Amino acid sequence: MSKVLRSVVTGVGGYLPETIVTNEELAKIVETSDEWITERTGIRQRRRAAADQPVSDLAVAAARRALEAAGRTPQDVDLIIVATTTPDLTFPATATIVQRKLGCPVGPAFDVQAVCSGFVYALSVADGFVARGRAKCALVIGAEEMTKLMDWTDRGTCVLFGDGAGAVVLETMDGEGAKTDRGMLGFALMADGTKQDLLYVDGGVSTTGQVGHLRMQGNQVFRHAVVNISDAIVAAAADAGVEISEVDWFIPHQANLRILEGVARRLGIDEEKVITTVSEHANTSAASIPLALDAAVRDGRIKKGDLLLMEAMGGGLTWGACVVRF
Ligand code: ACO
Repeated sequence: MSKVLRSVVTGVGGYLPETIVTNEELAKIVETSDEWITERTGIRQRRRAAADQPVSDLAVAAARRALEAAGRTPQDVDLIIVATTTPDLTFPATATIVQRKLGCPVGPAFDVQAVCSGFVYALSVADGFVARGRAKCALVIGAEEMTKLMDWTDRGTCVLFGDGAGAVVLETMDGEGAKTDRGMLGFALMADGTKQDLLYVDGGVSTTGQVGHLRMQGNQVFRHAVVNISDAIVAAAADAGVEISEVDWFIPHQANLRILEGVARRLGIDEEKVITTVSEHANTSAASIPLALDAAVRDGRIKKGDLLLMEAMGGGLTWGACVVRF
């Protein structure tokens, strides 16, 4: 096989804000119960960022941990991509704020906006740099403060989301061009803008001039999620030239336990192989995959050489998956 460049995950880090909000606490704000939320979603608690804690602070904390795990310093970083729906400011990109706060050298830094699919999209964009040798040490970060987009009178949405950040360091390495290589092996990215009404934020710079609140037709989103995510998994596995049965760990976007179970059932995936953090983190949008990855790397489940499959669906609708040998 010919030699190829691969972008390999060399470090993973996560950060969650200190404040924990339990289902019982939410039941004091809207008409809901711990029983309803747990039964329908698997969520028991979520983290909430402080009012004066911008999303870049969460991103920086996760990035520092990922760099430490990779044995790298901010000086080594030559590309920063932040996947976020909840930036510090309308501009500049949160990635440039992260660059300044970390003290990284001048180099490309920008945000990717694909809502809950943002981290998978961002990995694909980063792979376009790193696996071409145009960046050697990239930070790819998913960071969100979804609680700041909530309508706290809407029980159908405000119980589902949380705040957090996760990051990976991607570095260039030689591969053989085989599926046994470490690094990014396959992607599937998709969007269907005709489904915008199912999940969106009802505000924006060029429309209302306000940030707006998250709006969702939950049961419709649920229906599309199981089908779309399953399709993305199949497509990404085909792109990587692997069988779904070869995958050691599935690291899904953490929206709802019932979606994860539905996808596993549809594709005959052993639920033991599915990493779930939704009960502790709720839906942290673009941050949820790297946070789940971080949890499973730190507790020793995911090991170097394991075949991983990450997948997500979110507003847009956007969805996608990627196959990575860790
Ligand atoms: N507490 C109590 N009752 C509630 C709550 C709540 N927090 N929220 C809604 N209900 C009520 C509704 O008002 C409705 O009552 P009604 O029958 O009197 O009208 C009833 O529960 C059923 O509502 P549905 O929306 O049909 O409930 P469903 O079983 O579909 O569960 C849920 C709702 C949990 C939102 C589910 O649809 C879901 O998880 N969808 C996926 C949404 C999602 O995860 N989105 C995240 C972004 S996309 C992604 O990341 C994949």
